[in-house]
Amino acid sequence: MKNFFMLCAALAGLWVGSVQAQPAIFKDADLAMGSKLMADNKCVECHASKVPGDGSAVYKPQGRINTPGLLRGMVEQCNTELNLGMFPEEVSAVAAVLNRDHYKFK
Ligand code: HEC
Repeated sequence: MKNFFMLCAALAGLWVGSVQAQPAIFKDADLAMGSKLMADNKCVECHASKVPGDGSAVYKPQGRINTPGLLRGMVEQCNTELNLGMFPEEVSAVAAVLNRDHYKFK
């Protein structure tokens, strides 16, 4: 019985590991903080006003943003242009959330 639980724990670990696989630059990112920053900075509200649907259509994983580094760079650019004042680790956290939900770079 004990072995059964250990197997379950191991499988759960594998599952979580594969679902949350993130590229090295987002490995330490705080995803909860990233989600909150996106809500605070109205990222989705603005995107949703620009494209049909819920706004996720602005994210184009097959477009010019096609590496984790470029994704982080794009978020940094928005941060600067929109004067959001996010710290570097906050930019990484936001980019990591976008990667998890939309871009899915490995
Ligand atoms: C005032 C409006 C506005 C706000 C606020 C905004 N964005 Fe954007 N964002 C845009 C527009 C418009 C585009 C599309 C630009 C284009 O296609 O050239 C875009 C594109 C992007 C892209 C690139 C999509 C791609 O794959 O090419 C990313 C990433 C992005 N925004 C992230 C964010 C994040 C993160 C925030 C919040 C921290 C944010 N944006 C806030 C207007 C906004």
